[in-house]
Amino acid sequence: MLRTHTCGELRLQHAGQAVALCGWVQTIRDKGGILWIDLRDRYGVTQLILEEGVARPELFEQARQFGREFVLRAEGKVAERAAKNDKIPTGDVEIRVERLEVLNSAKVPPFTIEDNTDGGEDLRMKYRYLDLRRSPVRRSLELRHRMAQQTRAYLDGQHFIEVETPVLIKSTPEGARDFVVPSRMNPGEFYALPQSPQTFKQLLMVSGFDRYFQIVKCFRDEDLRADRQPEFTQIDCEMSFITQEDILNTFEGLVKHLFRTVKGIEIADLPRMSYADAMKYYGIDKPDTRFEMRFTELKHHSTNLPSQETVVDLVSGKNFPVFEDAELVVGIAAKGCAEYTRKQLDELTEFVKRPQIGAKGLVYVRCNADGTIKSSVDKFYGEAELRGWAQAMGAGPGDLLLILAGEANKTRKALAELRLEMGERLGLRDKSKYSCLWVLDFPLLEYDEEAGRWFAMHHPFTSPKPEDIALLDAGSLGAVRANAYDMVINGVEVGGGSIRIYNRDLQEKMFGILGFSREEARRQFGFLMEAFEYGAPPHGGIAFGFDRLCSLFGGADSIRDFIAFPKNNAGRDVMIDTPATISDEQLKELHVRVATEGKK
Ligand code: AMO
Repeated sequence: MLRTHTCGELRLQHAGQAVALCGWVQTIRDKGGILWIDLRDRYGVTQLILEEGVARPELFEQARQFGREFVLRAEGKVAERAAKNDKIPTGDVEIRVERLEVLNSAKVPPFTIEDNTDGGEDLRMKYRYLDLRRSPVRRSLELRHRMAQQTRAYLDGQHFIEVETPVLIKSTPEGARDFVVPSRMNPGEFYALPQSPQTFKQLLMVSGFDRYFQIVKCFRDEDLRADRQPEFTQIDCEMSFITQEDILNTFEGLVKHLFRTVKGIEIADLPRMSYADAMKYYGIDKPDTRFEMRFTELKHHSTNLPSQETVVDLVSGKNFPVFEDAELVVGIAAKGCAEYTRKQLDELTEFVKRPQIGAKGLVYVRCNADGTIKSSVDKFYGEAELRGWAQAMGAGPGDLLLILAGEANKTRKALAELRLEMGERLGLRDKSKYSCLWVLDFPLLEYDEEAGRWFAMHHPFTSPKPEDIALLDAGSLGAVRANAYDMVINGVEVGGGSIRIYNRDLQEKMFGILGFSREEARRQFGFLMEAFEYGAPPHGGIAFGFDRLCSLFGGADSIRDFIAFPKNNAGRDVMIDTPATISDEQLKELHVRVATEGKK
């Protein structure tokens, strides 16, 4: 070994020992008679010192030639520091250098390798290998490593076996576009990269593996966001001879284990919320339950959600056209915000009117601390009505009611955004707090107006609830609920899964509902349906978005820093500069003709 210790290891107890360290030059401070070098490696930083009269003069000469990020090997003795640095674990000691060796020189890096770097996003992506030298990024990958190890330990302990499934496969209908790979040996034919190993893990259940998992790359050609990458990693799992309850318990166990072992946090049993309630009270199927601020409906005339509740209407009959015409009038109470200024209220109005959110306007009611009540719709509503709203919303003196109106689904969606914005403004979305829950009983199908057909809300292999199969037969497709579940942490969908169909007839029926012809279904999924005829056990499973889980544990919004070499928002790896063109020769070999716009 070139080194006896790492740069994060030495303490006072090592004083007097002869050591050898290797690492990168973080900083050099040259005070004439004394020269310090901070030497960094993966484990930390250790100070090297050269002192006139102690170190040989040629060592000084040598050290003065070093630049940042030079790779050094230093030999010397550990000594107690005169001025200690309590910010780093090695801050009590320094190495009195006796020998220095340059293992490699380095160009000046394009940005500083510090926790707070001066490098912009693009530059850091281009030189990702340098960005990875920075502690925050390195720590994110170390966290990812621990998460992966603990996931394996837990699942192995539960008798899951890790099986690798192929990457060159046929399209799986997970809802996104496929990345495809042309086959040289089969002209005109393509493999698809898996959007998930869904069909394979189901086949492994037919094979009798009983409990499978895989930490696996998945590929989806979809629009990218902070929490989406074109290639990402799932903790993919499947179990046989289980009920939904077994799955929820097993994977609640996994998440509790991860919180305990990786973060030292004991989390409570996960609350469960139906999809219908999530939509009604939070306007979204992945509610951030770190804070309450639940929705209150002031008027709700028609609904496409299964709801047994009586129709409410606290707003009609007062000639306020916006509310008269609305399908849904719904609001939130922001605690202690009655004194928001005109400017703050205008900002909120602008926020909901942004095209991405799409509300037409925002109605507010101030429940002032002195007991008076004032609203932006005082022309239409008297004090009694406003007090009625405040009461329905559980608001007291000092609170602000924010109300949106319009078509039910759109209005819910917009209020969900406003709720998150208010949560942010009120500091209620603390990244060091975790609120986990299960969302259950998703609809099996959703209708796409544009496509004019039904789509599987989860995927086509998800089983309807047995008690809702009659609805399926009766053609009430929108009302059929699925045995499907999502795990949500702090408003992020970290995982989702379902109990599967394991019967050929039901699977064929599902494909029919989804608009597949018999032939098409057989051509694409004949292998799975045939497998169901050879003794398929009842089974179900789940997949966690591993990158998302890591970023949540790391307290970050973006999954990028938890991926060693991520793509940018345009799906490019700017470091290796890909996607890239390939040679005509390669194209020919692959039997691929590139269509160039304008060329015939
Ligand atoms: P689903 O499509 O819900 O289910 O994916 C499971 C989880 O994967 C994560 N995820 C992503 N993470 C980063 N980038 C992406 N582009 C991306 N897309 C999805 C999410 C999501 O909850 N085969 C089923 C699972 C099953 O039924 O067992 C599936 O893939 O956190």
